[in-house]
Amino acid sequence: MKSEITGPVAAVPPGPVVVMGAGSVGCYIGGRLLQAGVQVHFVGRMRVLQALREHGLTVTDLEGGRSHAEAASLQLHEAMPALTEAPALVLLCVKSGATAQAAAQLAAALPAGTLVLSLQNGVANAEVGASAAPSLTWLAGMVPYNIAELGPGHFHRGTTGALAAQDHAGLRPWLPVFEAAGLRLKLHADLRPVQWGKLLLNLNNPVNALSGLPLRAQLLDRDCRRVFAALQLEALAALQAAGITPAQMTALPPDRLPLVLKMPNWLFTRVAARMLRIDDKARSSMADDLARGRPTEVDAICGAVVRLAQARGLQAPRCRKMVELLSVARPVPLGGRALRRALSL
Ligand SMILES: NC(=O)c1ccc[n+]([C@@H]2O[C@H](COP(=O)([O-])OP(=O)(O)OC[C@H]3O[C@@H](n4cnc5c(N)ncnc54)[C@H](OP(=O)(O)O)[C@@H]3O)[C@@H](O)[C@H]2O)c1
Repeated sequence: MKSEITGPVAAVPPGPVVVMGAGSVGCYIGGRLLQAGVQVHFVGRMRVLQALREHGLTVTDLEGGRSHAEAASLQLHEAMPALTEAPALVLLCVKSGATAQAAAQLAAALPAGTLVLSLQNGVANAEVGASAAPSLTWLAGMVPYNIAELGPGHFHRGTTGALAAQDHAGLRPWLPVFEAAGLRLKLHADLRPVQWGKLLLNLNNPVNALSGLPLRAQLLDRDCRRVFAALQLEALAALQAAGITPAQMTALPPDRLPLVLKMPNWLFTRVAARMLRIDDKARSSMADDLARGRPTEVDAICGAVVRLAQARGLQAPRCRKMVELLSVARPVPLGGRALRRALSL
């Protein structure tokens, strides 16, 4: 990609890192940085911190990589601590609905200008953070791979790709450090196309969550794929109207994907074989949130499409319906056919 910038050579951490929201993403990325010699502070909830205190932090990946940090070596906090050495970088790893609150907590504890990199899905978290905590410097980032908590204190990267972030002078010294940690990081002059490219794929998350099916079974359900394709088509129309060309995140260009999704199973399984190389039990994290009764990120995903469409004088009724379906207190699971009917498809 034209806007990629490569970094200098020395892998000297510019200072400590704070992981705000020690969950799947925060523990995986923080765990890798820790192994590369970075001082990492993990701020998280009791459930995760307790597991880390009992089991330490184990980080694995699909290439067979494995590292373990003993519990005694971890710096774990239930709230943003007053640190003697100010962090050189904060990684914001909470779900989108928790951004504003986490941002306010960061602003109350950190010097003005501290760099905060949002490693969240959606396209607006850095802006939400900036309006809740304008004293801090906010940068958008993107995590392309899936990370799952396989057991207490064990976080696993199940797919591949390079982290992406908005270019900023303060991030460049981190490039060799991330590289040394086994975390490829690419800086982009404009991250929006990358964020939207990822969001187009994340539009399957609410479909998966509502279907009640594991990811692979859901992708093998043509009705579910038709819903996913319809959501993508609304997003693609809004993006075109906004003059944003989404980055290609899979083997297929974004505008070809809806056509492929709508194919009958016998053809889809041939054309999109790579998409189906998923563990039989894997689910989207939105499905997990739904199962645990936690708020989902549907507004940051489908809601973002609705807002982009509206800003350009368009409608995105199916994305709007998905927001509605998932925003009630106890969303009802819907099979592919019922979901199609609910979206008038
Ligand atoms: N997991 C993946 O594969 C993946 C991949 C790419 C991108 N992402 C994105 O990355 C972001 C994080 O996802 P995740 O899967 O890592 O979520 P997660 O496992 O739920 O981790 C977030 C953790 O932060 C905690 N938290 C929330 N507010 C906090 C606060 N103010 N102080 C301390 N801890 C706080 C949460 O607790 P509560 O549950 O109590 O809120 C939760 O334990 C999301 O935007 C997600 O879409 C995830």
